[in-house]
Amino acid sequence: MVRARTRWAAALIFFLLASAAWSQAATKQDKKSDIESRVNELLKRMTLEEKAGQLNQILFDESNVDAAIGQGSVGSVVNATGAEQVNRLQHIAVDKSRLHIPILFAYDVIHGYRTIFPVPLALAATWNPQAVERMARISAKEASAAGIRWTFSPMVDIARDPRWGRIAEGSGEDTVLDSAMAAAYVRGYQGDDLSNPASIAACVKHFAGYGAAEGGRDYNSVDMSERQLRTVYLPPFKAALDAGAVTVMSSFNTLNGIPNTANPFTLRHVLKGEWNFHGFVVSDWRSIIELISHGVASDEQQASQEAITAGVDMDMIGGVYYKYLPDLVRTGVVPESVLDDAVRRILRIKFELGLFDHPYTDPRLEQRELLAPAHVEAARQVAQESMVLLKNDGALLPLSKTTKTIALIGPLADDQADLLGNWFGKGEAKDVVSIMEGIRAKLPADARLLHSRGVDVVGTSVEGIPDAVATAKQADVVVMVLGEKGAMSGEAASRAHLGLPGKQEELLQAIVATGKPVVLVLINGRPLTIQWAADHVPAILEAWLPGIQGGNAVADLLFGDADPSGKLPVTFPRTVGQVPLYYNHLNTGRPPGPKADKKYFSGYIDETYTPLFPFGYGLSYTSFQYSGLKLSGDQMENSGKIEVSVDVKNVGTRAGTEIVQLYVHDLVAPVAQPVEELKDFQRVKLAPGAAKTVTFTLHASQLAIWDRDMKFVTEPGKYTVTIGPNSAEGDTATFSVNR
Ligand code: NOJ
Repeated sequence: MVRARTRWAAALIFFLLASAAWSQAATKQDKKSDIESRVNELLKRMTLEEKAGQLNQILFDESNVDAAIGQGSVGSVVNATGAEQVNRLQHIAVDKSRLHIPILFAYDVIHGYRTIFPVPLALAATWNPQAVERMARISAKEASAAGIRWTFSPMVDIARDPRWGRIAEGSGEDTVLDSAMAAAYVRGYQGDDLSNPASIAACVKHFAGYGAAEGGRDYNSVDMSERQLRTVYLPPFKAALDAGAVTVMSSFNTLNGIPNTANPFTLRHVLKGEWNFHGFVVSDWRSIIELISHGVASDEQQASQEAITAGVDMDMIGGVYYKYLPDLVRTGVVPESVLDDAVRRILRIKFELGLFDHPYTDPRLEQRELLAPAHVEAARQVAQESMVLLKNDGALLPLSKTTKTIALIGPLADDQADLLGNWFGKGEAKDVVSIMEGIRAKLPADARLLHSRGVDVVGTSVEGIPDAVATAKQADVVVMVLGEKGAMSGEAASRAHLGLPGKQEELLQAIVATGKPVVLVLINGRPLTIQWAADHVPAILEAWLPGIQGGNAVADLLFGDADPSGKLPVTFPRTVGQVPLYYNHLNTGRPPGPKADKKYFSGYIDETYTPLFPFGYGLSYTSFQYSGLKLSGDQMENSGKIEVSVDVKNVGTRAGTEIVQLYVHDLVAPVAQPVEELKDFQRVKLAPGAAKTVTFTLHASQLAIWDRDMKFVTEPGKYTVTIGPNSAEGDTATFSVNR
């Protein structure tokens, strides 16, 4: 009797849940068709000029912004911020323009709006999509409180060349890690419901291949096979779109000779065709006009025609769509249906954002959201997770809080502004906790914290080195803070040299020569070539450009109040001559290897082929032991899966978090395959002595490759699977995929 009742209750719960899910899906569908009819309704009432106006994004600085908005010639404004300012402009659009269409306000919210988190490359070093999602949610709350409903993020460009300054803005060199992060950003920005006033639209950029710029020089040409593009560069975009990203930015570069602002292959064929993307594409900054410099358009009119035909829906800053499209349509050069499609896409997203129903921002929110204590605390935690312990000889770290005298040396030790990094939204230097402040807060009142700058980040003066040496000599331990200024990475900040800039290495050498124990904290937005430091400095912490809580996070790690768990999302080369150097390269017919220190192999005669620190690398204050790699079977059906597990044990004396990484190698395939490829990863937190079996489910679909006929298939045959702490270590087993 009791059992029958339980069954009834279970059936009822199931029925209620199923009908709730069904009605949710139905509501979503209703909402969609309602939006489509509102879009069509509006479109019917629009003149050609008003249509072109929706495609026009203008810069807030322009002198005639108010008038342009009032006459309906603006669809989006970039860089107007603050509820008061944005509401004022929105009132002009809604109250004065003929069709009352609200403006979409955009801003580069890349790693925080006012609460600035570590730069995206550092965020990727957390290998923690949840942390990235949290960062993006906080960014959305703050930005939307300031009137912004559209951010130009995430940047998902794979970057294998640290000379390229924009490597700091992305998630590094790996497709799977980048894809996981791309989806996390989108979930965080857009939330479950885009029409929630605290959600902002994501813009996945730069479509596509931008990170492969020749010579690492920003905006430079890109030439690559379609196979490479689809295998390595496109999946993170797809992951962002699958997570719901509603806009895409085309990239500045040419791809195989065609500028991506006028590339029908990437935009119409792949994005809007194969991937069935319903949102809109925005150009990059004046990149439609730049088609003239690329030499594919002779004037602005032709540039506009090429861009709209290829599938760019909105003109960022150029003003040429608004100027030329109405006539291009009138004269029949551009079909009106092409213009209508672009307008529909933009209006659709404005409706989805709920802008027509609630166009204004509650001005009280700004006060509540910006730098809210919970946001600042999150910035500290995420920064802790992002830092990578590169070296810790003799367990120099963590430092004891009872150390009597600490010397803090280097140009970035008391810096605030540079820790913000690049693209730091509305971040302010005064919000930043410097490393000096972070360390001081850890020490008892009677401890001595000495400071000497030594040298500047950039420059040739070595005058300050003797003072730094004298300061170091008085200390029990020296903490050096060296690296790059915030603006030395990011857009248009490519470097031809990857060492510590200026005279910083000279300073480092002089301090190490004192014989004092030295801890090096690195501040930088890209991998640096730090071979000398790696050889001579006992402890190195990669702190990246860590944001407003950088100083606290560094201090938390240095003194062991937090445990380092970050892993490199990019390979660190030994020297710039090895670049591009990435872990998932092909084998070549002459693979380098231990026996290959002779001629006629794919290496260098004057440098080893190995990196200084491999992709996925990072130490902890404890040690993890891997054992017992097991597969659920050694055969996988072509559409099947297998389970791969490994036992991970904390064999040290402190708690710690390990990022367990799974790599696969397809041994024989019709198309040469990388020596290994990351397929999955998991975080495990283990108390001292504790062990856990970490299990991955590997699906045949994760093994698919673009074959000789450019079909995406899982090849039968032998594979190896390796699980380990980074891309260069691990235990390996073999399995086969059946035909
Ligand atoms: C140019 C950059 O390439 C892009 O990433 C950015 O979003 C836009 N400018 C807008 O600032």
